[in-house]
Amino acid sequence: MPDSDIAAPARRLRTLEDLDVADKRVLLRVDFNVPMEGGRIVDDARIQAAVPTIRALLEKGASLRLATHRGRPRGSVVEEMRVAPLAARLGEIIGREVAVAPGVVGDDVARFLDGAGAAPVMLENVRFEPGEEANDPVFCRALAGLADAYVNDAFGAAHRAHASTEGVAHLLPSAAGFLMEKEVRVLGEVLAHPRQPLVAIVGGAKISTKIGVMEHLLPRVSRMLVGGAMACTLLKAGGADVGDSKVEEDQLDTARRLLDAGGEKLLLPADAMVADGFSAGAATRVVDSGAIPAGWMMLDVGPATQAAFGEAVAGAGTVVWNGPLGVYEMAPFRAGTEAVAKAVAASDATSVVGGGDLAAALAELGLEDSITHVSTGGGATLEFLEGRELPGIRVLQEERE
Ligand code: 3PG
Repeated sequence: MPDSDIAAPARRLRTLEDLDVADKRVLLRVDFNVPMEGGRIVDDARIQAAVPTIRALLEKGASLRLATHRGRPRGSVVEEMRVAPLAARLGEIIGREVAVAPGVVGDDVARFLDGAGAAPVMLENVRFEPGEEANDPVFCRALAGLADAYVNDAFGAAHRAHASTEGVAHLLPSAAGFLMEKEVRVLGEVLAHPRQPLVAIVGGAKISTKIGVMEHLLPRVSRMLVGGAMACTLLKAGGADVGDSKVEEDQLDTARRLLDAGGEKLLLPADAMVADGFSAGAATRVVDSGAIPAGWMMLDVGPATQAAFGEAVAGAGTVVWNGPLGVYEMAPFRAGTEAVAKAVAASDATSVVGGGDLAAALAELGLEDSITHVSTGGGATLEFLEGRELPGIRVLQEERE
């Protein structure tokens, strides 16, 4: 695929301005796949992010039929993956009851929707239907039959070519919602014409999940700062002694290739906060990252690395960041992520942060508002930054004349 097609001027994304929704039945795909614990929503950021589109559609008199997935029920009904808590939370936010339909498609659902009239209704978890992930044409037609127009605000699911994210858009007049539009614009700008210098920060546990992003961003960035356990695979590939740190042995060749491609642009941790076990209560010390003793593992970047990363960020025009720099969920190993988050928040750079873990960390630190854009996507954001074409976006684009 050519470089971020998505940002390429040859195509334009259809938006709400292109769609007549007044007094129409609108199928609105959202991604309300939010983290939950014991039936309780832990973080409602994805719900909040779709509210501007929901409000705009309601104000225009649209009869809303909301559709989302929750979890991975793989085509059958899973009680604990019902959408009721999501509809209830949305209802609280918009100050209006959001009823839940007795299924996704079918006669009962059609009757329920007729009875609801203009009141907002959420369909049951679309992934309860086997046709959803299969993008089955019969299921697509059934979904399309519930509405007169289709709006997609589910950026987090845009990398899936499913019935409710892709198939149905071929069958109804369709457009992106505000959240989708913003994600595509902001992430597209990072790839196509970022304010220079562009600095990328990549962290997280596994380098195998970040190779695509690193390869795609390396030619575009001035610096790429790498932290998290994934940095250990790069350090080892470069000949360092990483002690008992987590290393993806089968990725060492790829890591060597990345080191060669990155050259001076790649900034790896100079020092490491190491622990003698993977637990919050383990003994810790700071050592040179090139000489981690046996029996010790890197669980965070050290203070010298925090300073170096902070300096790189301070001079950036744009910062794009995916993945925490240490084991953030354990208090002794969050200093690296926290220090760099503060540096990003304090800088004048346009900052774009992706990934649920990091977004949650920023929210906890109260720094969310100092970040230009916190992406709602997990896998979708990564695939976008890899330069791949996302089917849920592509179907909403048209060639410019
Ligand atoms: C996500 O949480 O990243 C999206 O909701 C997509 O979910 P999926 O990986 O189950 O398709």
